[in-house]
Amino acid sequence: MTARKIILDCDPGHDDAIAMLMANASSKIDLLGITIVAGNQTLAKTAHNGLNVAQLLDIDAKIYPGMPQPLVRQQVVAGNVHGTTGLDGPVFPELHREAEKLNGVQFIIDTLMASDGDITLVPTGPLTNIATAMRMEPLIVPKIQEIVLMGGAYGTGNFTPSAEFNIFADPEAARVVFKSGVPIVMMGLDLTNQTVCTPDVIERMEAIGNKAGKLFGDLMRFTLKTQFEEFGLEAGPIHDATTIGYLIDPTMFEMQDMFVEVDINRGPCYGRTVCDELNVLKQTPNAKVGKKIDRDKFFDLVADCIKTYK
Ligand code: BDR
Ligand code: CA
Repeated sequence: MTARKIILDCDPGHDDAIAMLMANASSKIDLLGITIVAGNQTLAKTAHNGLNVAQLLDIDAKIYPGMPQPLVRQQVVAGNVHGTTGLDGPVFPELHREAEKLNGVQFIIDTLMASDGDITLVPTGPLTNIATAMRMEPLIVPKIQEIVLMGGAYGTGNFTPSAEFNIFADPEAARVVFKSGVPIVMMGLDLTNQTVCTPDVIERMEAIGNKAGKLFGDLMRFTLKTQFEEFGLEAGPIHDATTIGYLIDPTMFEMQDMFVEVDINRGPCYGRTVCDELNVLKQTPNAKVGKKIDRDKFFDLVADCIKTYK
């Protein structure tokens, strides 16, 4: 089986870092590049965090910072969950890795245009880079094999009662992407909240005894605290890593085709992914939406990925 070619578009971010770890580890994934977007923190911070993770884990894929601001709305960040650095918890060695000069949006365009239509985009932050790339070069749209993203919810949000953070941070960009016609896999909170990383999971990954296991522990021990304080959750979900899990082993997931639209009205539902779970609109579905994940299998996969590191 040939490895699935992907561009990971992220805003590290604790769970983004674990998505990076897994994407780099799996032989089923060919990580063509990592583009960075502002989201959990400012672009300067998310890019710095991405470089730190890539250096620590010896990830060869290059890092391309992209858009520093959402398309229309004023910037919001998630310091409440990820801390002032965007990746509070781990202590990294001095940083020597440097970001590429080419903007992440241009990297996405160039890579897709040169491709045979066999590249999957994996956004785990706000959709600003992806929407900008689609607007700058519409010819990329039919070249995208699939978009497997973390964002949204058909139930309750986590940043407002209606909206999940990645979509709320750039609703207009999300609307462009969901209306693009590209096949979308949406890992929303309804599914990702099933990946709570309880202390026994943290101890299991740390016991692997390598740098990836330690990084996992340092990351998830921090989110254990913030997720409880912010949302009353028993522990921190690894939202973003479900995208990579899906690409490696889709059989762990229960999905449902739905028509999904992003609300960009500036009311209480700004940034909501309105998902037609009951198909009342009789519209053609534009997304496969995650409903259930086999948590045990998922954490077995995370462990397998961690074990590939020295
Ligand atoms: C999403 O928001 C961010 O804080 C996380 O990294 C994840 O991508 C969860 O709502
Ligand atoms: Ca993220």
